[in-house]
Amino acid sequence: MWLAVVLGVVQLVGWLFWWWNDIWYGFATASLRSSQGGTKLPPGYMGLPIIGEMFTFLWYFKILRRPDDYINFKRQKYGDGVGMYKTHLFGRPSIIVFSPTATKYVFRAEESFVLEWPNVEIVGRSALVAVHGKTHARLRSFVSRSINQPEALRQIAEIVQPRMISSLKSWAECGNINSYKEIKKVTFANIGMFFASFEPGPTMDALGQAFIGLISGVRSYPLNIPGFAYHHALKCRKTSVAIFREELEKRRKNIEDGSAKPMNDLMDGFMKLKDEDGSQLSDIEILDNIISVLVAGYESTTLASMWAAYYLAKYPKVLQKLREENMSLKKVKNEELVTSDEILKMKYTMKVVDETIRLANIAAIVFRTTSQDVIYKGYTIPKGWNVMLWIRYLHTHPDNFNDPMSFNPDRWDELMAPGTYQVFGGGSRICAGNMLARLQLAIFLHHLSTGYKWELVNPEAKVIYLSHPKPEDGVEIAIQKL
Ligand code: HEM
Repeated sequence: MWLAVVLGVVQLVGWLFWWWNDIWYGFATASLRSSQGGTKLPPGYMGLPIIGEMFTFLWYFKILRRPDDYINFKRQKYGDGVGMYKTHLFGRPSIIVFSPTATKYVFRAEESFVLEWPNVEIVGRSALVAVHGKTHARLRSFVSRSINQPEALRQIAEIVQPRMISSLKSWAECGNINSYKEIKKVTFANIGMFFASFEPGPTMDALGQAFIGLISGVRSYPLNIPGFAYHHALKCRKTSVAIFREELEKRRKNIEDGSAKPMNDLMDGFMKLKDEDGSQLSDIEILDNIISVLVAGYESTTLASMWAAYYLAKYPKVLQKLREENMSLKKVKNEELVTSDEILKMKYTMKVVDETIRLANIAAIVFRTTSQDVIYKGYTIPKGWNVMLWIRYLHTHPDNFNDPMSFNPDRWDELMAPGTYQVFGGGSRICAGNMLARLQLAIFLHHLSTGYKWELVNPEAKVIYLSHPKPEDGVEIAIQKL
C-alpha cells in the first residue's frame, strides 16, 4: 500500500511540475482578472517552472535546426485558432503571434503592445528604439530624413560605393574569402564614413572593437560586474560615445569659429535637422541615435549581403538574369558610380533584394510587452507579458508563399497577400532604415554581379539560427573576376 501511496505522490508531483506554469498563469492569473472580462488564455503549453518551453525552443532552433517546426508542432497540436499561442520563453510568460491577421493587429495596437529593448542603457535612453509616443515620432522623422529618404539615399549611394568596389577587388585577389567577415568589414568602414566621415585608421579600429563588445551586451544578462558581457558592453558604450562626442564637439567648435566645412554624413544631418517647431536634437540625442542606428543597421546589412551571395551561388539562373540587367546599366555608366535613382529602378535587381530579405529572415522574431490586459477574439493577453511576433513564419509558410523555401525573385511579379511580408516589422516601429538596407544590398549586387563570378566552398554547410540565421562557415566563397 505504501508503495502505491509513494507512486501516487510522485505522479502527482510530476503532474504538478509539468503543468505548474499553465496552472499558475492560466488559472490563478486569469481568475484574478475575471472582473475585467475574458479569463481564457490562448491555447498552448507553458512548460516547466522557470524554464518554461526554453528546451523545446532550443531543440527546434539549435539541435534540429528546423525553427519553423516549432510552430508547425504547435499548429498540429492546438490548431490555427486565432493565430496566437501561450508559452513561457526567455524567463517570461509569453504569447507567440504567428498569423498575418494577428501580427497586423499587434503591430497596430501600439499603445497596448509596447517595444521594450533589453538593456536599453547600452544603446542609450534617448535612442529612437527606447522612446515612445510623441518623442518617438519626432526622433523617427529626424532619423528617417537622415538615412531613409531620397536625398539621403543619393548621398549614401555615393559614399558606400568606393569601399565596396575596392573590397570586391581585394576579395578576388585573395581568391577564397569568408563572406560574412569580409562584408562586415566593408559595412563597418562604410558606416564609419557615412555616419561621421571617419576614414580607416586608429579611431575606426577603436570604434570597431568597442562595437563588438557593445552589440554582444545588448541581449546579455544585466549583471554590471567585471567579467560579464553586460559590464563590458557598458564600458564599450562609453568608448563609442566618447569617440562620437569628440567628433561632435570638434564640429560645434568649427561652426563657432566659422571654419566648418559641409560634411556629407549622418552626424551633420542630425546636427542640422529641425522639427516643425524649429527645435533641434540635443547632443545626447545625436549620440544615442548614432549608436542605436549603428546597432540596428550593422549586422542586418552584413547578413543580407552575405545571404545574397549565398543564394545567387545556389541559383545560377537568377544570377544570370541579375547580371544581364546590371550589365546594361554598367555599359551606360561607363565606369561612373551608379546613383540611387538608377539602382532603385532596376526591376529584377529589386526583386532579388526583396526575395533575399524574405528568405534570409534576419529578424526572425520581434518582441513587444503588453502595457495592459488585452482581449483579442475572446482570449486574454495579460499585462506585462512578452509578445513574440514570429515574423519568420509568415515568410516560410506555404499558405503565404508558394514553395516558400525556394529562392524565386519572380514571385514578386504578383502582389503578396496582405500582411504576409513583414521583414521590416510594421506599425510606427517599422524599420527606419528599410530603404537604405534595400539600396545598399542592390548596390552590392550591382558591383558583385557585373564584375565577379563565385562559388560556395561548402555548399552543404549547415545553417545556424541563433542569434541570427547564418551558414556555419559564414558563406566561404571562391571568387574571381569575370
Ligand atoms: C535587411 C536589413 C534589415 C532588416 C531585416 C531590418 C529589420 C527591422 C525590423 C524587423 C525592425 C522592427 C523592430 C521592432 O518592431 O521591434 C527594425 C527596426 C529598425 N531598424 Fe531595421 N532592419 C534592417 C536594416 C536596417 C538598417 C540598414 C538600418 C539603419 C542603418 C536600420 C534601422 C532600424 C531602426 C533605427 C529601427 C527602429 C525603428 C523604431 O523603433 O522606430 N535597419 N528593423
